[in-house]
Amino acid sequence: MCGIVGYLGHRDAYPIIIEGLKRLEYRGYDSAGIALFDGTNLNISKTKGKVTDLENCVENQISKKGNLGIGHTRWATHGVPNDVNSHPHTSNSGDLVIIHNGIIENYDSLKKELISRGYTFKSDTDTEVLINLIEDVKNKENVKLGKAVQIALNQVVGAYAIAVFDKTKPDEIIIARLGSPLAVGIGENEFFIASDASPFIEYTKNAIYLEDEEMAILRKGKDIRIRKIKDDSSVDPYVQELQLNLEQIEKGGFDHFMLKEIYEQPKAINDTYRGRLLREDAIIKMAGVEDNMKKFLNANRFIIVACGTSWHAGLVAEYIFEDLARIPVEVEYASEFRYRNPIITEKDVVIAISQSGETADTLAAIKLAKSKGAFVFGVCNVVGSSIARETDAGAYTHAGPEIGVASTKAFTTQITVLTLIALRLARAKGTISSSDFRHYLLELEMIPKKVEKALKADAHIKEIAYIYKDVSNFLYLGRGYNFPVALEGALKLKEISYIHAEGYPAAEMKHGPIALIDENMPIVVIATKTGHYDKVVSNIQEIKSRKGKIIGIVTEGDVTVRELADHVIEVPDTLESLTPLLTTIPLQLLSYYIAVMLGKNVDQPRNLAKSVTVE
Ligand code: F6R
Repeated sequence: MCGIVGYLGHRDAYPIIIEGLKRLEYRGYDSAGIALFDGTNLNISKTKGKVTDLENCVENQISKKGNLGIGHTRWATHGVPNDVNSHPHTSNSGDLVIIHNGIIENYDSLKKELISRGYTFKSDTDTEVLINLIEDVKNKENVKLGKAVQIALNQVVGAYAIAVFDKTKPDEIIIARLGSPLAVGIGENEFFIASDASPFIEYTKNAIYLEDEEMAILRKGKDIRIRKIKDDSSVDPYVQELQLNLEQIEKGGFDHFMLKEIYEQPKAINDTYRGRLLREDAIIKMAGVEDNMKKFLNANRFIIVACGTSWHAGLVAEYIFEDLARIPVEVEYASEFRYRNPIITEKDVVIAISQSGETADTLAAIKLAKSKGAFVFGVCNVVGSSIARETDAGAYTHAGPEIGVASTKAFTTQITVLTLIALRLARAKGTISSSDFRHYLLELEMIPKKVEKALKADAHIKEIAYIYKDVSNFLYLGRGYNFPVALEGALKLKEISYIHAEGYPAAEMKHGPIALIDENMPIVVIATKTGHYDKVVSNIQEIKSRKGKIIGIVTEGDVTVRELADHVIEVPDTLESLTPLLTTIPLQLLSYYIAVMLGKNVDQPRNLAKSVTVE
C-alpha cells in the first residue's frame, strides 16, 4: 500500500524520485521520505505528511545531489505516521538503507531476538527490524549484501517489496518482492525502481515486473540479475514494452484525477468493448472466454470474489449472469471467502474482479480457489498485475490508469466486461434469442454517448451538492440492478466526503432504516423506468410522508417521481441491465462535488490507499 521509487545511474536521482513519489502517492500518503547518496555522504530526509512536505524538508535539510537514491510514500501499518516511522530506515551501523512496502508479520519475534543481541530501534516499524536483520546476517555470515538480503528474507513471514543499498558500496541496489508489486525500468546504464511503471515512463519503455519470491541485483553498468529468493536459482529477465504514456497519468486540465476519470468513462467504456463487440457480425469475441468456453458452460456455478467497489461490480454481474445466461452466481467479499473454509469444487468457476490487480485479499481468495481445483478468471484493469498473472485466464477492462483513490471508471468498465461475458455465454447456451442479443449489442454501443449525456447534469448536481453538503447522514436506495449502485453511491460519498452514508435495497427500508428518516435526511433513490419502477415510487411515497428529502435518479422524461421528489437527476433510457452504467454517473458527481465543497482531499482521502496490498 506504500509507494516505492529508486534510481541508480548517471542522472540526478532527486527529481526522478520526487516526481515518481507524486505519481505513486495514491498508494499511501501519510508520510514520505528519501535517501540520496552524493558520492561521499548519505543524506536522508523524511517527514509525516505528503510528498510536497518532503520537498520542503529536503530544501531545508539536505543536499539534493546524487545518482543513487530511494524514496517512499507511506500508508502506515506498524507505528503511527510520524517522522521517525517514515521510510527510508537505516541499520544500526548506518550503512544499510531500506524502503519497504508490505508487512513483516513475524517482526516482533525477530525484533526481540535482535534486541537480545544488542540491536536498538528508533522507530516502531517492522521495516527497521528487517534492515537490522539483513545487517546482522551480513556481518554474521560475512556475505555480500545480495546474499544477506536473500538469507534474511527466508526468515521473514509476510509481504514485501523492498529496495536496499549499502552506502559503502554505492554502485548497487538490491530489490525483492513477495506479495507487493515491483517494477524495474531498464535504461541505458541506468535502473529505475517503482511500485508501478508510472514514475519512469518518460525515461524508458522497457520494464521488468518482478514475480513473487524473486529478488534482483541492480549494479551500475551491468545487466540486471534476477534470482529466486528460496533456492537462489537464476531467472531469465523478461523485458516488457510499456503501453502507458505520460498524458494518461496527468490531470489534463481537470481539478482532480477523480473528475477526470469520471469524465473519461465514455471513452473507457468504449475502449472496454472495442474489438470485442462486433455488432455487424453479431458476435462478441473475448479470447479468455473463447479459450475456456467448456469450463464456463460446464460450471455448476460462478463465484465472484472482490473487495469494495469491485465487489459492487460483482453484485451487478450476479444479476446479469443469472438473468441472461441462467448461471447461478454467488458474490463473496474476498476477505471473508478466504477465511471461511468455503466449499469449492472443480466444477466452479471463480471470477476475481480487481482494478489494481494487487488487492491482497482477492489474491489470497484466488490462490485458495486454485488450490481446490476451480478455474479462476480475472477481470483486472492493471496489465501485468499480480492478479492478472495469478489467474488461469482473464479479460482486462482497458479503463486506463485510475489514479483517484475513489474508484469510478474502473467500476463502469468492470460492469461492461462482465456484461460482455454474460452475453457471450448466454448466446453459447441459447438463453438469449439472436434478436435480443443484437438489441443488446446495439444498446451497449450507445452507452458511451448516453454516459456523455448523463454527464451534462454536472451543473445541476453541483447545485444539489451545495444544498446537502453539510448534512451528517445520507441514504441511498435502489432495487434490482440498481441495488449495487446504491451501495456504490454510498461508498463513494463516505470515502471522499467522510459523511456517513448507507446503501439499501429500496424495499428493505421499511425493515429498519425508515426509522432514520426525518426532514434532515437526504435520500438518493434510483428510480429509473425498470421492472420495479412502481414499487420504488411507493417507497418514495413512504419517504415523503416522513418528510425525508428525496433526490431521484430518473429516466429522461419521468413525470411521476418529479412530482414527488425534491430534486431529480435524469439519465437516458436504456435496457434495465445496462442502467447501472448510467445511474452510477450522477452518484459519482454528487459525492465528488460534496467532497470538494467540504474542502476534502478528493483524490487522496484520509486513511485510504489505492491498492490494498495488506490483509
Ligand atoms: C473504492 C475503492 C475500493 C476498491 C477496493 C478493491 O472507491 O476504490 O473499495 O474498490 O479496495 O480494489 P481493487 O479493485 O483494486 O481490487
